[in-house]
Amino acid sequence: MSQPGPINPPSRLLMGPGPIDADPRVLRAMSAALVGQYDPFMTESMNEVMALYRRVFVTANEQTLLIDSTARGAIEASIVSLVAPGQRVLVPVFGRFGHLLVEIAERAGAEVHTIDIEWGRIAELDQIEAAMERVRPHLLALVHGDTSTTALQPFEGLRDLCDRFECLLYADTTASIGGNEFLTDKWGVDAATGGLQKCLGGPSGSAPATFSPRAVGVINSRKQVEAGIRVDGDPVAAEPIRSNYFDLAQIFDYWSPRRLNHHTEATTMLYGARECARVVLEEGLGSFQARHGLHGRAMMVGVEGLGLTVFGDRAHKMANVVGVYIPDGVDGEAVRGQMLRDFGIEIGTSFGPLAGRVWRIGTMGYNARQDAVLTTLAALEAVLRRSGAGVPAGGGVDAAYEVYAAASTPLVGGVQA
Ligand SMILES: Cc1ncc(COP(=O)(O)O)c(C=O)c1O
Repeated sequence: MSQPGPINPPSRLLMGPGPIDADPRVLRAMSAALVGQYDPFMTESMNEVMALYRRVFVTANEQTLLIDSTARGAIEASIVSLVAPGQRVLVPVFGRFGHLLVEIAERAGAEVHTIDIEWGRIAELDQIEAAMERVRPHLLALVHGDTSTTALQPFEGLRDLCDRFECLLYADTTASIGGNEFLTDKWGVDAATGGLQKCLGGPSGSAPATFSPRAVGVINSRKQVEAGIRVDGDPVAAEPIRSNYFDLAQIFDYWSPRRLNHHTEATTMLYGARECARVVLEEGLGSFQARHGLHGRAMMVGVEGLGLTVFGDRAHKMANVVGVYIPDGVDGEAVRGQMLRDFGIEIGTSFGPLAGRVWRIGTMGYNARQDAVLTTLAALEAVLRRSGAGVPAGGGVDAAYEVYAAASTPLVGGVQA
């Protein structure tokens, strides 16, 4: 068998629900030289990352760090570390990623209760309150932005409920962090985890996460330092956290001044995650979110200008992804295939009850840009017309242009802030 050639990916514009094109700045940071695990440069970089992500998560939480995994790993680390077998977990399920929280909590041995909500809607506070009254959970776990439906779950009021029922609050912000407001401390969230490959404009493989002092107390109550590095005075738990790799108590020690060895930190991913946060904070978290709002709106209004119908509850929609009903008589996969083949543009398919009915189009991170929005709308119009759908000529691009014209902020470096 002949040896494959060097990696040489085709040129793509990734306008699906993530991953998206990584910011070139992030890719450049990821080509920096490696240093040793305890090199002062490395430990200083870890500290910088903690400080940067405190600002991204809008928190003072000491334990703000990276989990070396894709976003799913950080969800698993949180749940397996916060919940002991047999403890009750309540999950409002309004999309695919709510199901993922259930799956992970069940595998962690929790007694899992759900609130089942129609895909496209959010969980109402009174529904959650009633379920908490009934279940008395140890942990309330919710997805903040569920990319499978584009729903953005409000978190206001949840802390009060959690205080009443002495419950921890977890948020999966993989797809929302950076592009949508998320106020960890103000909303009293005990654990929040993210991912780089959506609004943060990096590759998947590192998951920023933050944990409140209350969450840290719960996690450390089951702390065990593993044999081989344990010294006198280190705890051995009767019921240790069920995962070694995702044992947050040990991961906290690794990120603390003690630098107690756990895994080998993924240096290249750390450089990438560091640059992702720098990109966000250099622009300013507020402007970064406003940019997602603007380009997301332009895409939404643009698809409507093509005569397409937007899926879901607009009052609770993520800024960075729009669901679009596939028009009757149009083969959704054929359109996606032609967009990719002829224009190099990827848009997303859907899962579960929305499969074959809805496309998902993202405008996030590096791709939350006017040129990316207009190019995608122009390409979609051309492909739809060739597939026999009657679409108004220029309707998508013109409608998006109107959104840009109505926005009063000027273009800064090609990006409308
Ligand atoms: C809301 C949400 N949670 C979790 C995940 C899983 O992320 P990963 O594929 O990085 O593990 C995704 C990925 O799309 C997501 O959108």
